[in-house]
Amino acid sequence: MKMFPAVRMRRLRKLKLIRETRLSTDDLILPLFIDENVEGENKKPIDSMPGQFRFSIEGAVKEVSEAHSLGIKSVLLFGIPARKDEKGSEAFNNEGVIQRAVRMVKKEVEDVVIITDLCLCEYISHGHCGLVENGEVLNDPTLEVLGKIAVSQAEAGSDIVAPSGMMDGMVKAIREKLDDEGFTDTAIMSYAVKYNSALYGPFREAADSGYKFGDRSSYQMAFSNAREALREVELDVKEGADIVMVKPAIFYLDIISKVRAKFDVPLAAYNVSGEYAMITAASEKGYLNREEVMMEGLTAIKRAGADLIITYFAKEWHPSR
Ligand code: PBG
Ligand code: ZN
Repeated sequence: MKMFPAVRMRRLRKLKLIRETRLSTDDLILPLFIDENVEGENKKPIDSMPGQFRFSIEGAVKEVSEAHSLGIKSVLLFGIPARKDEKGSEAFNNEGVIQRAVRMVKKEVEDVVIITDLCLCEYISHGHCGLVENGEVLNDPTLEVLGKIAVSQAEAGSDIVAPSGMMDGMVKAIREKLDDEGFTDTAIMSYAVKYNSALYGPFREAADSGYKFGDRSSYQMAFSNAREALREVELDVKEGADIVMVKPAIFYLDIISKVRAKFDVPLAAYNVSGEYAMITAASEKGYLNREEVMMEGLTAIKRAGADLIITYFAKEWHPSR
């Protein structure tokens, strides 16, 4: 192999031509919060995530079409119901906030991919991702409810349902229920590898999904584990997941890269609320440059092997970058 002085790595350094990783707006998915308590065209700022809002249904339609005009054609919708109960009934109410929002976005905005978060925590009084008995989050009884939520979201027009509760067997249960009801074309993006991360802190204010007791360590993965992530992905793929997700993203690039190397399914990574909040707060203080750090972070996620990135920065990414 030739070396210096024939070889000069600096020769091509500045050329965009040789970039190995390119990010496009097609890779990005914008998460949005839709709050049944917000009315008209209003939106309510989320204190823990400056620049992000809880929208009314009409406000969300406007936001989706604005994102669309910036090239962001996929959105991940979270619903915040006016009423919560012990069963999370609003999650599968056909007139619930998410179902109405999906119908309205589908009607008003063309050529948009609607992904709906499929979980109980925003809808259930204690805030856990499953049914609870004697302080325990129950697995199997929760599966049935997840199937019902999936069908109601598919009926409303969701293109992809995204189960985020880390219940064992959730993908299988949802796929069977969707197929039974004739929704064979509704896809499943599974939060296959979701770590029990402190980086979700700001989201819990955003989605009003904080839990009233305990924590999520009986269902979300310990951040010390990597091999377990591969088993989680394998199981979800076998159960019928069309897209698998790793979450969070920037602290977990090793996991993204391992999953990419072993599986050929489309891979998404969730650049979560805490990642957004850290960059936002530090840039507000003048410690770092928001745009530059965002660009570096999102490119790193793609370089690690993610095909899709769910990010609150989606609207700030410009194709010219
Ligand atoms: C709940 C859910 C969470 C996120 C997405 N869905 C939080 C949690 O598990 O407590 C986190 C998203 C983010 O932090 O941006 N099922
Ligand atoms: Zn949840």
